[in-house]
Amino acid sequence: MPIVTSTEMFKKAYEGGYAIGAFNVNNMEIIQGITEAAKEENAPLILQVSAGARKYANHTYLMKLIEAAVIETELPIVVHLDHGEDFEICKSCIDGGFSSVMIDGSAHSFEENIRLTKQVVDYAHDRGVVVEGELGRLAGVEDDVNVNDEDASYTRPEQVQEFVEKTGVDSLAIAIGTSHGAFKFQGEAKLRFDILEKIGRLVPGFPIVLHGASSVIPEYVDMINKYGGNMPGAQGVPEEMLRKAASLSVCKINIDSDIRLAMTGTIRKHFAENPGDFDPRKYLAPARAAIKDLVRNKLVNVLGCNNKI
Ligand code: G3H
Ligand code: 13P
Ligand code: ZN
Repeated sequence: MPIVTSTEMFKKAYEGGYAIGAFNVNNMEIIQGITEAAKEENAPLILQVSAGARKYANHTYLMKLIEAAVIETELPIVVHLDHGEDFEICKSCIDGGFSSVMIDGSAHSFEENIRLTKQVVDYAHDRGVVVEGELGRLAGVEDDVNVNDEDASYTRPEQVQEFVEKTGVDSLAIAIGTSHGAFKFQGEAKLRFDILEKIGRLVPGFPIVLHGASSVIPEYVDMINKYGGNMPGAQGVPEEMLRKAASLSVCKINIDSDIRLAMTGTIRKHFAENPGDFDPRKYLAPARAAIKDLVRNKLVNVLGCNNKI
């Protein structure tokens, strides 16, 4: 099974009322943890690489690690650029073997977002690569994605059809109240399902993407706090909300922070219990196992994409 695009995956996910997991990858242990879980659960998979991940690990290293995972697991795997900010990075990833790119033009005006997204779509489609766009802005702080609360804005449903038609984009990330990182809500978690439902009626059958979808699993936040970390108030998207989104038009659910938390909590615990360890394999193996557990739970109990190959 070679690296694939998400076209078939999204079609089946839309019709089946489930979503494909899109997990951010930065190194070998993360790729192994995710793909071993997907293999055991017979789940299609999207592995996504941010600009920060490419800076950290290098495009070729990540590409070759993912190719190794494809050989080892024989799973259909999409290799996707997460939050491409300009044409150049999308081109570089397309030329470098990715099967899917995101052009995140959400910081621009509606007109400029359409122009930029269409430029990427034209280049990508000529080469058999699919494109995700974004309308509306999520709040949140990550290495290469940094949006203040004041600059965040919900997607306007009335713009979606025009955007999809004029750009020819294959999927669309929308803003309905999620945000990147581990601090998503103060108080009750609220998502604008009314916006999602309206978009579903306006562009029926069209795959929608939910970013900022980590649940910020309390088990791992507690582990971090217990072993010397400091993350009071960390809060994510409740799993039942993700299940509801997956049952509607959301076909791709993005998860990064939960992986970071599982890895960090497990490594902190390991060092607290084994202060003399200095062999990276000793602390990276439990971290990889924690990622595998986490991803299995997502695939089966949240996304519903197990046994969908
Ligand atoms: O949406 C952003 C992802 O979590 C990637 O974060 O830019 O720190 O790699 P990063
Ligand atoms: P989280 O920070 O909620 O994991 O979101 C990740 C994401 O949207 C990557 O694009
Ligand atoms: Zn994102």
